Amino acid sequence: MSSNDGKLLLRTVRGERQDRPPIWIMRQAGRYLPEYRELRASVSGFLELCYTPSLAAEVTLQPLRRFDLDAAILFSDILVIPDALGQKVGFEAGEGPLLTPLDEAAIARLSPDVIVERLAPVLETIERVRAGLASDRTLIGFCGSPWTVATYMLGGRGSSDQAAARLFALRHSEAFAALIDILIRASTAYLVAQLKAGADVVQLFESWAQNLDERAFDEYVVGSTRRIVEGIRAEIPGAPIIGFPRAAAALLPRYVAGTGVDLVGLDQAVPLGFVKGALPPNFPVQGNLDPLRLAVGGDQMARRAEEIIAGFGDRPHVFNLGHGIIPETPVEHVAALIEIVKGRR
Ligand code: CP3
Repeated sequence: MSSNDGKLLLRTVRGERQDRPPIWIMRQAGRYLPEYRELRASVSGFLELCYTPSLAAEVTLQPLRRFDLDAAILFSDILVIPDALGQKVGFEAGEGPLLTPLDEAAIARLSPDVIVERLAPVLETIERVRAGLASDRTLIGFCGSPWTVATYMLGGRGSSDQAAARLFALRHSEAFAALIDILIRASTAYLVAQLKAGADVVQLFESWAQNLDERAFDEYVVGSTRRIVEGIRAEIPGAPIIGFPRAAAALLPRYVAGTGVDLVGLDQAVPLGFVKGALPPNFPVQGNLDPLRLAVGGDQMARRAEEIIAGFGDRPHVFNLGHGIIPETPVEHVAALIEIVKGRR
């Protein structure tokens, strides 16, 4: 028996269909949990929490103490990469992340070679979580995909249309390519280090896959993701990788065909029937319950969860939300959802 035999989620990423889907929840450690809010209040800043291994490990494990989840996800953020590259990142309460937008000169000053050194506390968090996690639970590491991270680095904040980054990419194509290149190298080294520190699988969050035409999508999203996947596997052959191109819509099949990821995350706007025709048979998927259905709970949530389980019953499926859990979500709804997915309700 290999040591992975008990890890239902890892096996699903590797292409094995299960009797019932394993489940984890995007942003499962976070503000909907009272124990998270309490610990968060004890530190001055969000990044301080991410960079303090004892606390970050505790927050990572909090949802598994409360719920029967099949995986833990490292507690960190996609914006630790810009921070480690030397761009100032702030998190203001109620505002989300704020960065000083990069220009061409600032891109030339980024320092990609020290990233793994600077993110050593995150790697220590992984080692600590590994030590505290049951052997049948999967540990997920992650980073943001280059395009998504670049939208924050160039725009300075989240936006609904990513116009600042899209304009920069078209107006300053060389500087943009240099930035994406830095992010590819940094992300590859960082994910390899996460896998070596004890992560079983890594997820690439492409939260802003929307709004791009097919050429831009191939170049910014598919091409850069493929280079990371190939770079990781050059060092760790067969490394298991999840890609989550949120809102990629009709471009989803291109992402699956072009990136080399093992499993693709689906947001709630992807119809169950679309997947049957658009993705290869047996290609593993993750998702895709609307987080607002979980926030409201009850019968409508149960019905849709059952529909999703049945809809993806013919292929390897990891149950998850279509995007992160929202802070208003009652913890009882999460417990109820897990019971449904595990067939105990
Ligand atoms: O999933 C988990 O439990 C692991 C932790 C995790 C966080 N962020 C913690 C966090 C993960 C995987 C992320 C990923 C992340 N961060 C993404 C990709 C996923 C997605 O949601 O699309 C993005 C775009 C970010 C950037 C980011 N970080 C934003 C936009 C915000 C502010 C919005 C918000 O939800 O508050 C953050 C802050 C953040 N990251 C918080 C947490 C728990 C809240 C900050 C706090 O507690 O003070």
